[in-house]
Amino acid sequence: MAVEKSRRDFIGMAFGGVAAVGGILSLGAMKKTWDPLPSVQSAGFITVDLSPMSDGEMRTLQWRGKPIFVLKKTAEMQKNENRDVVAGNKNYTVIIGLCTHLGCIPTWAPKTSQFKCACHGGEFDASGVNTFGPPPRPMDIPPFKIDGEKLVLGEEGPEYKKLVAKKA
Ligand code: FES
Repeated sequence: MAVEKSRRDFIGMAFGGVAAVGGILSLGAMKKTWDPLPSVQSAGFITVDLSPMSDGEMRTLQWRGKPIFVLKKTAEMQKNENRDVVAGNKNYTVIIGLCTHLGCIPTWAPKTSQFKCACHGGEFDASGVNTFGPPPRPMDIPPFKIDGEKLVLGEEGPEYKKLVAKKA
């Protein structure tokens, strides 16, 4: 009898142990699906080192599936204190590169220092302000933070909040 009981206990314990291990494994698998993938977590932010950019250089970056224009202004380009991003005493235009008319991607025309939209002839100045054609408003400024000479896209830093407050 005693042997029978301890055998049953052993089988019970063994089954319980398997069930517990299975439970832990499936909990682990479930947690994996709850946690965002590392690439998704970091996809919301991009850090760009602005220090190697030369005056007048325009770069197009990808952020959250959108084109972002970063232009390092030259001394000749008009400053716009309501829109310029200042990093390391230099002024930059940082804008979402989508035309505010119907969303085409304008191109940078360095000779005239303008962003031109080929779809319906819209034009924007070097600060991304609409100057001609159907675009109803300037191109949007994405949330950003300045960290020395680095631009962090996707984070609302004090410089971004200041620009937004000026617009309001
Ligand atoms: S979409 Fe740019 S002018 Fe119409």
